Amino acid sequence: MKVFKTKKDLKTYFSNLIPKKSKIGFVPTMGALHKGHLSLIRTSLKENSVTVASIFVNPTQFDKKEDLEKYPRTTERDLQLLKDVGCHVVFLPSVEEIYNQNVSSERFDFDGLENEMEGKFRGGHFDGVGTIVKTLFEIVSPNNAYFGEKDFQQLQIIKKMVVKNHMNVHVIGCPIYRETNGLAMSSRNERLSIEQRKEASIIYSTLLEVKEKIKVFSVKEVNNWVISHFKKHPLFELEYFTIADEETLKNVSEISPDKKYRAFIAVYADSIRLIDNLSLNN
Ligand code: PAF
Repeated sequence: MKVFKTKKDLKTYFSNLIPKKSKIGFVPTMGALHKGHLSLIRTSLKENSVTVASIFVNPTQFDKKEDLEKYPRTTERDLQLLKDVGCHVVFLPSVEEIYNQNVSSERFDFDGLENEMEGKFRGGHFDGVGTIVKTLFEIVSPNNAYFGEKDFQQLQIIKKMVVKNHMNVHVIGCPIYRETNGLAMSSRNERLSIEQRKEASIIYSTLLEVKEKIKVFSVKEVNNWVISHFKKHPLFELEYFTIADEETLKNVSEISPDKKYRAFIAVYADSIRLIDNLSLNN
């Protein structure tokens, strides 16, 4: 496995070593890798001749300085995991290599996708994500790029960015990888207590119940049920629950048979924020 810290070295490697017709698969990460990331790498390995992962904790997508500082940095372990899974190339740039002296975001218009759900609670977050993903796509020039559906809003926003900027990258969403109790895999799960981690199965089980209830009850009734369900649970505080159109991410008050919908949820366990979502169509 090759590890490059500069754009120049990565580009030289690609132009010298890789046959020009290679298909490049790319998995951008912020490190602290878990099985969900590794499943993205495995999918890329199956579908491409060369798989590149990046590890970069992107400062411009954090709205709180404290979260950026606390973000786990486990580079040695991450590199070992990537090597073991068979990843070919890792891009591991410094903040300066990416941003020079100007650590700031480009402003994007994602046709309103950025104003829904996470966008309401994390100011400037998606401009930061757009900035880094666009920059990494320009450096790596992948054919395919893989993102987990846990961050479904991020996935839709990246697809929108690619279309609006006429980038020649196929953005692929991969199913959420879950712990055995249904909790969506996330680097943040490590910060949960044993009890919180066990009880956090309530997030996925709620989404599964929503999927059944929406066949019988109205969106309003289901929303109210989720709110009251979480009020009974002392370990978790519901930040938002919404049923939204998959394309526009706008919350809906009615379900129509010809459209695709998802249920989205964000909860706090103490200061640890957990998100999840589930398709309501299949
Ligand atoms: O999902 C993430 O880990 C990050 O938002 C990403 C896409 C790597 C950009 O920093």
